[in-house]
Amino acid sequence: MGVFITFEGPEGSGKSTQARLLYERLQAIGYPVILTREPGGTRISELIRRIVVDLRHTEMAPTTETLLFSAARAQLVSELVRPYLNTGGIVLCDRYADSTFAYQGYGLGRDLDELQAITTVATGGLMPDLTLYLDLPVEDGLRRKQVAKERSEQSAPGTTFSTPPEWNRLDARDLAYHQRVAAGFAELIRQDPDRWRSFSADQPLAELAEQIAHEVAPLLKRVTRLGVYQ
Ligand SMILES: Nc1ncnc2c1ncn2[C@@H]1O[C@H](COP(=O)(O)OP(=O)(O)OP(=O)(O)O)[C@@H](O)[C@H]1O
Ligand SMILES: [Mg+2]
Repeated sequence: MGVFITFEGPEGSGKSTQARLLYERLQAIGYPVILTREPGGTRISELIRRIVVDLRHTEMAPTTETLLFSAARAQLVSELVRPYLNTGGIVLCDRYADSTFAYQGYGLGRDLDELQAITTVATGGLMPDLTLYLDLPVEDGLRRKQVAKERSEQSAPGTTFSTPPEWNRLDARDLAYHQRVAAGFAELIRQDPDRWRSFSADQPLAELAEQIAHEVAPLLKRVTRLGVYQ
């Protein structure tokens, strides 16, 4: 069994940026590693993502939203995450089941036991070995995303960004909702402190990347590097 590491945190806190930096770092030193994201990561899950994030889908019922996230997760776990872990590799995932508890549970008020049952069906009980939490005041994260979005709208066609900004249906919910999500994450961390590591996301990218690499290092002992005989 390999190592399963997830990234969590509020909108715009730098999860995708740091997930990519960690992926590149591990790959550069020869670890078998894949980077994926939720919702998404497989052909079918990316199609479900499009439905979930679409700003036009204002009528989506909370149960539908919960089940779509879970359906996308079920496909990702069975098609990609479990098979890769079974080869002994490292899976980095940009959001995972904790986001369901924070967003649909604490954010939308869905029953947490019910979410647990749905999540267990979707994942077969697969939990991360380590969850990296990027902590940033909700307003700051939303502002970062707004700035990125405006910048991309002003830029010349064809400009590419390392982290394409996406202002989606869930971002567009009100500030009180995002505050409940953040409080939900704090509660999840309190309940399972051994699995979580929390970082202030209000610091330069490179410093944050160093801190994350430091926390991940102990888990790497159980992974065999490609082309390296240990
Ligand atoms: N440490 C940082 N300091 C300042 N800006 C940052 C930092 N990390 C990321 N950013 C910028 O903030 C924006 C959001 O970053 P990113 O997309 O990585 O966050 P995210 O947590 O993945 O967001 P989302 O919730 O949309 O998935 C981007 O424009 C990114 O360049
Ligand atoms: Mg992201």
